[in-house]
Amino acid sequence: MLAEAVKYAAARLRGQADPHGHLAQQVAIWARHRRHSAAWEPHLERAKALALGAAEACPEGARRTALVLGSGLLLDVPLDGLSALFERVVLADMAFVPEVRAKAARLGNVELLQADLTGRLDRLRAAPGEPLPDVAAGEAGLAGLGASLPGLDFAYSANLLSQLPLFALEALPPGLDAARRTELAAGLVRRHLDGLAALPCPACLVTDVTERGLRQGAVDYEADLLFGVRPGLAGEMWVWDMAPNGEAVRGLDVVRVVLGVANVRAGNVCDQGRA
Ligand SMILES: C[S@@+](CC[C@H](N)C(=O)[O-])C[C@H]1O[C@@H](n2cnc3c(N)ncnc32)[C@H](O)[C@@H]1O
Repeated sequence: MLAEAVKYAAARLRGQADPHGHLAQQVAIWARHRRHSAAWEPHLERAKALALGAAEACPEGARRTALVLGSGLLLDVPLDGLSALFERVVLADMAFVPEVRAKAARLGNVELLQADLTGRLDRLRAAPGEPLPDVAAGEAGLAGLGASLPGLDFAYSANLLSQLPLFALEALPPGLDAARRTELAAGLVRRHLDGLAALPCPACLVTDVTERGLRQGAVDYEADLLFGVRPGLAGEMWVWDMAPNGEAVRGLDVVRVVLGVANVRAGNVCDQGRA
């Protein structure tokens, strides 16, 4: 706890704001990763390998700007490789810890873009009773971000998708009915997937899709992390040993099923399609 408090304070002292709790979440991820680095390693390596392979598939003449969405602590981001391959790498997130800022500065061609990738978190704080913004409409979203980055040749959504609705749900006024909350969360998931597909470049996606609680190997519970949205994309699936030995839920090992798609724009549609 002390190490986490110090880490959080260090980021805040260097000017990192935390209006919606993203910095606090990154610090919690940092602490959990420290506790379970060996268990997390296969997942992180697999995500990095998929993203790097996808980036390397970009033709040599089309390696100007790479965009990483939800770059966080760079645990699942092959930043050295991306920095070597592309003229410029843009890391987009709501918060950056000092170590990430320092690494970006060292590499020289890495820029930080502090942005809310839902574009809606502030507006969701609307007074109770005010109509909620329609997540399916308005704003240019990811496509707008892509258009604002000249020479965008590659994008990587790095374990961000399932997190987008969580922060949004936190920001909602209390008392909103469950169906409306789920609808809004699902809308954000769909919007991100549609935004990736609309980018003018290959877009790699890594996301957890399902959480399972295991009791001595048997499934105790299963939760859909994408609020009923099926990405409808064919790709690699693997299991991330996220919180072993009862760390998150007493008596259970909590694992997440992860989907990795090298390029969501490459016609990677699986039989089920999008729902
Ligand atoms: C589970 S972490 C991803 C792990 C990260 N790729 C890494 O390697 O450490 C999710 C990341 O998404 C970011 N995030 C969540 N919601 C966001 C939003 N609305 N806009 C921008 N970033 C967001 C969080 O700050 C966090 O860094």
